[in-house]
Amino acid sequence: MIDRIITDTKQDPDEIELENSLRPKDFKNYIGQVRLKQNLNLAIKAAKMRSEALDHILLYGPPGLGKTTMASVIAHEMQAQIRITSGPAIERAGDLASLLTNLKDGDILFIDEIHRLNRNVEEVLFSVMEDFKLDIMLGKGPSARSLRLDLPHFTIIGATTRAGALSAPFRDRFGLVHRLEFYSNHEIEIILKRTAKILNVKIDEEAPKTLSTRSRLTPRIANRLLKRVRDYADVNGDGIINQKIAQDALELLEIDEMGLEPADRSFLTAIIDHYDGGPVGVETLAAITSEERATIEDFIEPYLMQIGFLERTPRGRKVTPKAYQHIQKEQFN
Ligand SMILES: Nc1ncnc2c1ncn2[C@@H]1O[C@H](COP(=O)(O)OP(=O)(O)OP(=O)(O)O)[C@@H](O)[C@H]1O
Ligand SMILES: [Mg+2]
Repeated sequence: MIDRIITDTKQDPDEIELENSLRPKDFKNYIGQVRLKQNLNLAIKAAKMRSEALDHILLYGPPGLGKTTMASVIAHEMQAQIRITSGPAIERAGDLASLLTNLKDGDILFIDEIHRLNRNVEEVLFSVMEDFKLDIMLGKGPSARSLRLDLPHFTIIGATTRAGALSAPFRDRFGLVHRLEFYSNHEIEIILKRTAKILNVKIDEEAPKTLSTRSRLTPRIANRLLKRVRDYADVNGDGIINQKIAQDALELLEIDEMGLEPADRSFLTAIIDHYDGGPVGVETLAAITSEERATIEDFIEPYLMQIGFLERTPRGRKVTPKAYQHIQKEQFN
C-alpha cells in the first residue's frame, strides 16, 4: 500500500490544534453548505421562538467536510452548551447514563462516529431520544428494582461518515438528517483565503485557484495542502505563495490536477489492469489494493464518484472513460 498524504485518519495533536483554530464559529463564517444552513437556520429560529430544545440532528458525509465544525456552530447559534463525545468513547450504558444526567435543558450532546456506538448503548439512547426518560436498574438479584429518571430536554447531534451503518429506527429518531456535500471550487478558494489570513500566510490571487482544484473539494484537505505549500514557499521561495510555487509544491507531493495522489491513481490502475475497468467487488478491491474497505467506501470512493471517475453498479465498481483518460495522461507525463 502506498502511504497517503491526505488521508482522513492519523491526525497528530498539532493538526488537531490547527483544525480547532481554523473552525468557523458561526453561520456567517461557515462557508458553503447553503441548503444545510438554511434548514438549520429555520429549525434554530423555530426552537428559539418556542423556547424549546432543538430537534436531534444527524450529520453525515465524507471526512473533512465540516460535520464537527457545524455541530459547534449550531451550539453557538443556539447559545447552548456543547458536550463532545464519540461512539467508541461510550463503552457501557452506565457511561451514557452519567453523561446524560449531567446535562441541562437545551444542552447539546455531540456524538462523533455515532455509527460506532455499541448496541446496548444505542438501545438506551434510542428510548431516551424520544421521551427524555432514563430507566436504570438499582441493585442486583431479587432486590433489584428499576427507577425511571426524568432527563433534561437536550439535543443530540450525531456525526458519521456512514449513515447506512445506523439502524433505520435509530436514524428515524433524528428530526433532521442531513448529508454534507462536497464544496465547489469557488467555496474552497474562499476557505483557503480565510485560512491564509488566519495563519498569516502570504498568498497571491491566483494560487488559491490552483490549490482549490487539487483539494478534493474538501476543506480539511485544502487547509492541509496550504500548510504544505507554505513550507515549500518558505524553503524554496520568499515565503509568498504564488501559482508557480503552488504548482511546484503539489508536483513534489505528486498530487495531480484532479487532486489525486499516487494511492488514488494506483487504486484506479488496479481496477483497469486487473479487471479491465470493472465491475469489481469492494472486498476484492480492498484485497488487491491493501486499502481497508472502510477507507475505500468512506474516503476514496465518494470523491472519485463526485468527479465522475468511478461508478457503483450492482455488480461492483466500474472505472469511467474519464478516469481512463486521466490515468493515461498521467502515465504519459
Ligand atoms: N464550511 C467550512 N468553512 C470553513 N472551514 C471549514 C468548513 N468546513 C470545514 N472546515 C474546516 O475543515 C476542517 C475539518 O472540518 P471538520 O473537522 O468539521 O470535518 P468533519 O466532517 O467533522 O470530518 P470527520 O468526518 O473526519 O470528523 C476544520 O478545521 C474546519 O476549519
Ligand atoms: Mg469530525
